[in-house]
Amino acid sequence: MTQILSVVSECAPLIKTGGLADVAGALPGALAEHGDHMSVLLPGYRAIMGKLGKTKVVDTFRDLFGGKARLLACNAYGLDLLIVDAPHLYDRDGGIYGDAAGQDWHDNPERFAALCYVAALIAKDGAGGWIPDVVHGHDWQAGLTPEYLAAQGVKTPFVFTIHNIAFHGNTGGERLGSLRLDPARFNADQFEFWGHISALKAGLAGADRITTVSQTYARELLTPEFGIGMDGILRARQSDLSGIVNGIDEAVWNPATDPNITTYKAPSGKAANKRALQKTFGLGKSDGPLCVLISRLTEQKGIDLLIQALPALLGNGGQLALLGSGAPDLEVALLEAAANHPNMAVKIGYDEPLSHQMIAGGDAILVPSRFEPCGLTQLYGLRYGTLPLVSLTGGLADTVINASPAALSAGVATGVQFHPITAQALSDALTTLCALYAQPDTWKKMQRNAMKHAVGWDTSAAKYHAIYAELTP
Ligand code: ADP
Ligand code: GLC
Repeated sequence: MTQILSVVSECAPLIKTGGLADVAGALPGALAEHGDHMSVLLPGYRAIMGKLGKTKVVDTFRDLFGGKARLLACNAYGLDLLIVDAPHLYDRDGGIYGDAAGQDWHDNPERFAALCYVAALIAKDGAGGWIPDVVHGHDWQAGLTPEYLAAQGVKTPFVFTIHNIAFHGNTGGERLGSLRLDPARFNADQFEFWGHISALKAGLAGADRITTVSQTYARELLTPEFGIGMDGILRARQSDLSGIVNGIDEAVWNPATDPNITTYKAPSGKAANKRALQKTFGLGKSDGPLCVLISRLTEQKGIDLLIQALPALLGNGGQLALLGSGAPDLEVALLEAAANHPNMAVKIGYDEPLSHQMIAGGDAILVPSRFEPCGLTQLYGLRYGTLPLVSLTGGLADTVINASPAALSAGVATGVQFHPITAQALSDALTTLCALYAQPDTWKKMQRNAMKHAVGWDTSAAKYHAIYAELTP
């Protein structure tokens, strides 16, 4: 049994902006099946402090990066949590990474350095008598952990998981002092990146093992196109890098028990959900597939490509219901497109129950990302018999079986993939999707395949378990 401290900036169901939270929230339960125990170290954001129930103070700090702080332990939502209660860093309005206007908090480097610093202290001295055998950090917010472990002289192994390499957590070299980093290590082999302090690079350089969230993304990261500046260090550390695909929480995402929908066990049970969804989005009946998309609206997600490719869907009798929020220009472009098409509707915002209703009621789910380390919504789609149409990249390449002539005749297809990642290829894929939908037997067969496809945590949790075990002989 390995004791693991997970160091992460979000964790479902407490606080979530994307798939990272789902993974952080699901891993402890999945690992418990393999006999491991994981506690999760989280910043004490204002938004979570009221959700913790009974807490116990297990440590206090006179000066944690500019103010007094406490370390709280509790169990909430079945998770063993350690919370860094540091009001000067986390008790504020707005988002967890930035203010209400979307501007990053100016002190993000210190906010997440504090998390890493506390992680190192827990590795050294324990928390309420509990001491981890392994520290497992996620993304740049946990990247400085090995620096502080080294500074404390602690040898606890560190596993670092890349969920998205696009965020480097860079800050100017003048912050070495305020981040309590060792100037002697501010060099290209450690955490210096083109004159900046890079929290991500610190994590990559200092990790005993590096993982990312799909095998294809692990390969893509070694190329300049996807590695965006970190490909060199990743190539140097290739023997320590592996891809472990994410699972989904099969209790939360289960069409047979989902409290947000009209439950079903077979694809035919989707009809009632489709009608309800059309009503919710103000869409009429149509002959083509009802496509859904649930996403952060950013460059990564290929939303602009979809806007260009819309005629291939809407011109073939298809429909689109979209839920998301993010870049203001994308929000405006989507709302404009919806205003011009009776078969397209857009809701701007974040809505968990609606996302379940969309996955249940849609015929297909679209994920046209330019890059996608893993992606979770295509996995929900598979489980709910809502066929994924995805770009051929990262985890989308690894989790969907394209409806090629060979896959169709072998009876194994679960969705549609397109490549290159262009508006033209996406248009062609949407045309293919509409053609498949017009063949009910083929479509039903694909739905049955999709619903049988393994999307749980079992295999992947076993791989993390094996990594921890190797590091703690
Ligand atoms: P990423 O982490 O890059 O945003 P993922 O596909 O891994 O992409 O995870 C996104 C998660 O956030 C999924 O659980 C998805 O359902 C959820 N999500 C994204 N946008 C919204 C939204 N507007 N409303 C509800 N859930 C959303
Ligand atoms: C990131 C990636 C996404 C992945 C998620 C969880 O946000 O963009 O592809 O599924 O992390 O690992």
